[in-house]
Amino acid sequence: MDRKGRILSGMRPTGRLHIGHLSVLENWASLQDAYQCFFFVADWHALTTSFDESRSIRANAREMVADWLAVGIDPERSVIFVQSLVPEHAELHLLFSMITPLSWLERVPTYKDAVQQHKAKGKDIATYGFLGYPLLQAADILIYRADAVPVGEDQLPHLELCREVARRFNHMYGTVFPEPQALLARVPLLPGVDGRKMSKSYANVIDLAAEPEELRARVNDMITDPARIRKTDPGHPEVCVVHKYHGIYRPAELAAIEEDCRQGRIGCVACKRTLAGALEEVMQPIRERRRAIMRDTGYIDDVIAEGVRRAAAEARQTMEMARQKVFGV
Ligand code: TRP
Ligand code: SF4
Repeated sequence: MDRKGRILSGMRPTGRLHIGHLSVLENWASLQDAYQCFFFVADWHALTTSFDESRSIRANAREMVADWLAVGIDPERSVIFVQSLVPEHAELHLLFSMITPLSWLERVPTYKDAVQQHKAKGKDIATYGFLGYPLLQAADILIYRADAVPVGEDQLPHLELCREVARRFNHMYGTVFPEPQALLARVPLLPGVDGRKMSKSYANVIDLAAEPEELRARVNDMITDPARIRKTDPGHPEVCVVHKYHGIYRPAELAAIEEDCRQGRIGCVACKRTLAGALEEVMQPIRERRRAIMRDTGYIDDVIAEGVRRAAAEARQTMEMARQKVFGV
């Protein structure tokens, strides 16, 4: 190969990132040397469900890029940009829409689920645009002819559709697109402080930019073994959220904590205090970098503008090839 493999991934700007996103971003950051990386803010994808809150999307996008940079996504090595500022994504999406049977989109498992979930909250997202969500995602990936896409398991059906669309296009008009592979990262699933899935809608998240007091307060909110009243009561660490976090952030000490908990030698207050200390060590440098980035007025906008410039140059080349294949001129 005359170039490094190319990676592309994106995130919807749904508000401030939380500690659950940290391992996803650390995984992105770790790919930056071995691959040519494209990371983008999927603001059109946010619009498919937040069309009624469209005015907050751009501000969220900037905040999200600040989080990325603070965690170590490096604009020197990676192309960082905003989807809607590279309109070629939409043109490719349109071409793909001509050759994608409706049934392919209707059978994507995330579609009906999401429509149902929003309906329960009184919102109708059964739009043309939302049905096309995975097809737009295919265009995002294929417009850069990416080789691999780091995603979570939930996105595998979208990757499968992406490959099917690439295959159909190549077969019908001539080969333009590689069939990208999913790069499944081994990212640990962090529960929210209440033990449920971490999600903004459950109000159980720890903000990536949380100040030290807030961080401590959130750790204090964590659900522990409810059977423990006194600190000498034998504990059951397997039901405890604090214990899960120790496993991820203090793996070397986990066995000792478990033993102390089971024997009733350590109280939950002390156990939480050590965890809060360990989390603060992780979060403090991120918080500082984020602050410095935000202090530098115009920096984020510059990073995005440069990323858009580099992304658009690639996207234009792909579109030229695709148009040539479709129209034959
Ligand atoms: N659907 C992805 C998510 O919700 C976001 C996304 C949009 C994406 N386009 C993409 C991810 C292209 C990877 C590649 O997480
Ligand atoms: Fe959880 Fe620690 Fe309390 Fe055991 S001692 S229940 S691990 S907080």
